[in-house]
Amino acid sequence: MRVYISQRIFSEALEMLRKEGITFEMNEGARLSKEGLIKKIQEADGLICLLSDGIDSEVLKSNPKLKVVCNVAVGYDNIDVGAATKLKIMVTNTPGVLTETTADLAFALLLSVARRIVEADKFTRRGEYKGWELIQPHLGRDVYGKALGIVGMGRIGTAVAKRASRGFDMKILYYDEIRNEQAEKELGAEFVEFEELLEKSDFISIHSPLTEKTRHMFSTEQFKKMKKSAYLINTARGPVVNEEALVKALRDKEIKGAGLDVYEEEPKVHPELVKLDNVVLLPHIASASVETRTKMATMAAENMIAALKGKEPPNLVNKEVLKGGQER
Ligand code: GLV
Repeated sequence: MRVYISQRIFSEALEMLRKEGITFEMNEGARLSKEGLIKKIQEADGLICLLSDGIDSEVLKSNPKLKVVCNVAVGYDNIDVGAATKLKIMVTNTPGVLTETTADLAFALLLSVARRIVEADKFTRRGEYKGWELIQPHLGRDVYGKALGIVGMGRIGTAVAKRASRGFDMKILYYDEIRNEQAEKELGAEFVEFEELLEKSDFISIHSPLTEKTRHMFSTEQFKKMKKSAYLINTARGPVVNEEALVKALRDKEIKGAGLDVYEEEPKVHPELVKLDNVVLLPHIASASVETRTKMATMAAENMIAALKGKEPPNLVNKEVLKGGQER
């Protein structure tokens, strides 16, 4: 059994593959182009890839031997799962292990943008701090006691709500296609329609996956409905927000600020965002702690090992592939 690994992953995961006698090749250089990746996976039974690899139907079809694609991420919008299912290729992800780490970062972004931490840090480094003043140049906005609107009350959304409710006494509003009764009971979270969430929230944090329904869920119309004092936090996927409309809303002061970890065309960052002081910009690091990224890699290895041994991988996304038998 042969596995191709599209980009560098931790040695703990490689060791797991080795122990199972699985032969692998790992790309240790720059990210491959689609053509480069296609060439490299020709002999592979399985592919371990990252969310920055676009695995479309052309890639999937290029190797009739390919049985499984293990994404080292919880989101899998980088993979054409529909095409994989048709080809009976299993797709796996890494849910659960990154929940708390991602929620921590979402909250860090929320605090940073409200309390202007990045601006104030730059100011201090420039040597501009000349003494305490009541009316400081970096007066921010309070976080505690405010209304937090969560879009997507799944694992990560709930973990953010927990921090906000238990630690900061925030009122939690949420919108999702599925009601989260546990969050309602335990955190007092209130389900509201999307429009109401837009109108009532002081902070909005996005935690939904990227799907055709959520693409550009935030655009000009939604920014107009938000409070002028509201902040938007996005640690989910860039295209959930229309970036052009966000730039305009920030410039026209339709909303107060934004904290972004993800972008519409990663790794590109909209050049106008970079010019704005009322945004905090991060390079997609929500899950980036040593502990969590290591767990994500070992979880992908576990999925790969199970699939290549003919077992159902623990985090199989497209269970339909198993219905007609696993052989291809
Ligand atoms: C990170 O964005 C992930 O989906 O794991």
